[in-house]
Amino acid sequence: MRIDILTLFPSMMTMFFEESILSRARKKGLVEVHFHDLHQYSLTRYGSVDDYPYGGGAGMVMAVEPLANCIEQLQRERRYDDVIYTAPDGEMLSQNMSNQLSLKENIMILCGHYKGVDERIREHFITKEISIGDYVLTGGELAAAVICDSVIRLVPGVIGDEESALSDSFQDGLVAPPEYTRPPEFRGWRVPEILLSGNHAKIEQWRYDQAVERTRQRRPDLLKEG
Ligand code: ADE
Repeated sequence: MRIDILTLFPSMMTMFFEESILSRARKKGLVEVHFHDLHQYSLTRYGSVDDYPYGGGAGMVMAVEPLANCIEQLQRERRYDDVIYTAPDGEMLSQNMSNQLSLKENIMILCGHYKGVDERIREHFITKEISIGDYVLTGGELAAAVICDSVIRLVPGVIGDEESALSDSFQDGLVAPPEYTRPPEFRGWRVPEILLSGNHAKIEQWRYDQAVERTRQRRPDLLKEG
């Protein structure tokens, strides 16, 4: 899978991808992530990419030309399954959406800033708009990082034990059951006996029951959706 991230602040993003699962995915050759500095597609001598909004009002708008130049240059090089724009009014990111994105070959993510992008970019280039929650971030970089994290860990082979991604919270519409590790007792706090029993069928049933109960308590909305 290849992900191209279009941003005003590439250095803010590279750090994030140099660590942990994301860096392993890149080193294993399963995922390529490329950053594109939008300033380099500016038509002005000073590399500016924003301008005042027509009709007035506070804040700046990311201009159509540098964004279109960057998107089109990439599109000439390969076919993209999706051109994503991060925006608070986009479709809410979900596990289901991340599952679908993890199967794509090439995606582009445009990180918004300031008051956002000239609407013509959304109309003519963007195929999917994603929000990571009902709050406003300063820019789309954090949102793009969240999207990439949740997608890349689902790409086959990225997580060694594939079961572990499949048993994540939300994969089956339930939150994850509690987990324990050694020691079996700490300050008198004991690990549930069933987990020490070695009876795998009973343990699976217990985990499922716990997941259902936790979902009922913490996220009853998930049980209603089905
Ligand atoms: N840009 C600003 N706020 C955002 C949000 N909540 N989700 C995605 N992109 C954003």
